[in-house]
Amino acid sequence: MSPKSLHKMRSEKIRERFIEFFKKKGHKHVAAAPIVNKEDPTLMFTNAGMNQFKDLLLGHQLAPYKRVISTQPCLRVSGKHNDLDEVGRDTYHHTMFEMLGNWSFGDYFKEEAIGWAWELLTEVYQLPQDRLYVTIFGGDNQDQLGPDQETRAIWEQYIAAERILPFAKQDNFWEMGDAGPCGPCTEIHIDVRPEMVRQQVPGQLLVNKDHPQVIELWNLVFMQYNRLATGLLEELPAKHVDTGLGLERLSMVLQAKYATYDTDLFSPLIEAIAIASGQVYGREEAIDMAIRVIADHLRAITFAIADGQSPANTKAGYVIRRILRRAVRYGYTYLGFEAPFMYRLVGVLTQQLQAIYPHLEQQKAHVEKIVQEEEEAFLKTLTMGLHRLDKIYQTLQESNSSVIDGATAFELYDTYGFPLDLTMLIAKERGFTVDEIRFSQALQAQRQRSKQASVAEQGDWMIVMEKGNFSFLGYDQLEVTAQIVKYRTVKTQGKQAYQVVLDQTPFYPEGGGQAGDTGRLVAVEETIVVFNTQKENDLIIHYVNRLPTALTTPVQAIVDQERRVPTANNHTATHLLHAALKQVLGSHIEQRGSLVNDQLLRFDFSHSAKLSPQELAQIEGIVNHKIRDNIAMQEDRHVPFLVAKAMGAVALFGEKYGDRVRVITFDPSFSVELCAGIHAPVTGQLGFFKITAHVAVAAGVRRIEAVTAGAAEHFVCQQINLLDTLRELFKYPKDLVQTARQLLQEKTILSKKLAVYEATQVQSIIEQLRSSFQTVYSVYTMIARVELPQATALKQVALALKKVGEPFFVVLVSAVEQKPHIVVAISEDLAQQWSQNAQDIVKKLAIYIQGGGGGSPTLATAGGKEVGGLPQVLQMAEEILKENMENKAPSINS
Ligand code: SER
Repeated sequence: MSPKSLHKMRSEKIRERFIEFFKKKGHKHVAAAPIVNKEDPTLMFTNAGMNQFKDLLLGHQLAPYKRVISTQPCLRVSGKHNDLDEVGRDTYHHTMFEMLGNWSFGDYFKEEAIGWAWELLTEVYQLPQDRLYVTIFGGDNQDQLGPDQETRAIWEQYIAAERILPFAKQDNFWEMGDAGPCGPCTEIHIDVRPEMVRQQVPGQLLVNKDHPQVIELWNLVFMQYNRLATGLLEELPAKHVDTGLGLERLSMVLQAKYATYDTDLFSPLIEAIAIASGQVYGREEAIDMAIRVIADHLRAITFAIADGQSPANTKAGYVIRRILRRAVRYGYTYLGFEAPFMYRLVGVLTQQLQAIYPHLEQQKAHVEKIVQEEEEAFLKTLTMGLHRLDKIYQTLQESNSSVIDGATAFELYDTYGFPLDLTMLIAKERGFTVDEIRFSQALQAQRQRSKQASVAEQGDWMIVMEKGNFSFLGYDQLEVTAQIVKYRTVKTQGKQAYQVVLDQTPFYPEGGGQAGDTGRLVAVEETIVVFNTQKENDLIIHYVNRLPTALTTPVQAIVDQERRVPTANNHTATHLLHAALKQVLGSHIEQRGSLVNDQLLRFDFSHSAKLSPQELAQIEGIVNHKIRDNIAMQEDRHVPFLVAKAMGAVALFGEKYGDRVRVITFDPSFSVELCAGIHAPVTGQLGFFKITAHVAVAAGVRRIEAVTAGAAEHFVCQQINLLDTLRELFKYPKDLVQTARQLLQEKTILSKKLAVYEATQVQSIIEQLRSSFQTVYSVYTMIARVELPQATALKQVALALKKVGEPFFVVLVSAVEQKPHIVVAISEDLAQQWSQNAQDIVKKLAIYIQGGGGGSPTLATAGGKEVGGLPQVLQMAEEILKENMENKAPSINS
């Protein structure tokens, strides 16, 4: 069979069939998580469908549904699962891909998972059974696990024993990261090679051998263990199923293609790139590879930016920047794109996926702007990098070397975004090579550094009491009696602390832009400071520097009210500001970022133009009006998501919402938002709202910073004090602004007058000096102290005196604003005949004024600190002349 004989099913249909099939088997279809992971500090991006279920798998939380499915956009570009460097080189790896998955949380296990996977593949999708192979876990000595015979026995009900292949841990034991839920897996692979080729080499031999036509389709993981930070395995409280079926690969098979890039998921983009570059896809490997890279990377960055992660210099933003740059660089080198081009492709993708991912289409304009700006900046860097390379070649040629050393190649990579293959390619064109080994060493060292800087080293959880569910009581209480459930050590940037989980807590964990609460845990006779509160998925983690002595005794968990109240005020002000912005600027305003703490609020929003003073005043006015109206907060804690949407609640892109959401309303006709944060009970508590800054942060994104209550009062008082000081300085004028303006005008006029006066002064000094030259040893000599308005005039005078005649020796000194200056001018013949030129002389003289200087062999200057040394400078200058001329006495020739 060749893939041509398979029926052609469009990718939408494939996705739909998957969902239908598992719904019939009692599964709940849940929404995908955002691709940018804001819930788990150990993960920047969602890299598997199971990420959002990590807590359920670990038993930290009770599962609301026992059987679940999702279609999850995943990004594998960092951490344990990183395919970035492979993408484009082959025809089946991707940075961003869609994972279709089914889960059982302590419900069905191997028997059903395997039976249903087989049924779906062979009956619904009708894949030919004789082309399928399965792999099973072959055991691991280090983990003390034997081969998975149970899975083998189940598979033998469906498939011949010789098609069941055991593999080691690396292939058949799935782990989310260095620690976390894991378990043996069984994978289903397919061989789509043409029949004739299949006859020659049996498919068994090619499974897990990176063959582009013998590929893994579906991974069924049997989650049974938790990998501890120590590396040991711990049994999970229940057994779960976690599966992942790649939509791109399944589409490739069902659409009878040999590459995922030839499926309907990629072809619109591939075509658009080919047209834009004037190339044809499928003729030349280098060009095809560039087109694949761009198509793949565009998907990754569009999903990430739409979820709120713009390119940046650190963490997740840096990963996105690298992906985008990789695509731009391939476009530049292989397709001749010298101007931004990627941003024009965003629309092709968003339109293609709008039925399944409507938020992409809604975010199109924003994504385009960000991508275009980033492309422009990178193309400039790329040009600079090419100049740098030119300089490197020049140096190498001069030193007769033909190898670019590893450190230089790494500098090109790190500073100018040149991947090694680009440096190697250009080097080859010019007959150079690159020290690849040293480059890899430098890269490894950098990776290690960034790993250490970004990842907190955590110990394993130490369980104090068994508990499955945890409550957050902080909406109603600031003090709660709680029990420590577990704790672990954590080390961030060299500092050791503890993370503590309580059975119930009033502490709000950082989230939705709002800073985490601080406060204290009061045990019998000790008080422990909680210096931060964070969230890890649904676990609330309190940061403390030490643990209570008696861990099992209840503690009073008390939130710091002095920080909590202003933070709540600023959060409420953020909602009021958001609504006011919409009212004044239009409904296109969308939140792009938010920071709320006890000091201020910072709100980033989509808007292209700078806000006028009138607009800012209007926005401020609306917010203050709402504050004076003293509106009571209306809080609805468990509203079904769809009902909340119908209430007109503002939901944010890139945020994960459950089936039930919390809705915060301040006047139903003004501000209704989905929000988990803490708010003021009435707007009157905010007292006063004041915008303190308004700036642009990126293309199409503006930022407002503002303060409320005490901080707003303080800000206004400071401004008034400033005005009072100015009034006092100006001697209480009638009109301060007019007086200041007048003063500035007068200053400009006076400065001009002064410049004219100083020029005349300098000119008259030049005249005076010209007439008082002496001839010493037949040399036109001028050694003198002059009074000048500015230090720069000294050089000007010396230059003018040169015209007197040759040979000449001029040493002038001056003290300007208490600072000594020297200039030495010497005719060219003397500079050559004497044992010292102007540079040498100025250095010698500068010692007396505790300074230094330099210049050319005929004209040099110096500045210093010690004005008192100037007479010695003049004396020394006389001696230098004497010393040189007593050795040699040239005659005056002009
Ligand atoms: N977690 C497994 C994977 O990502 C199965 O979903 O492959």
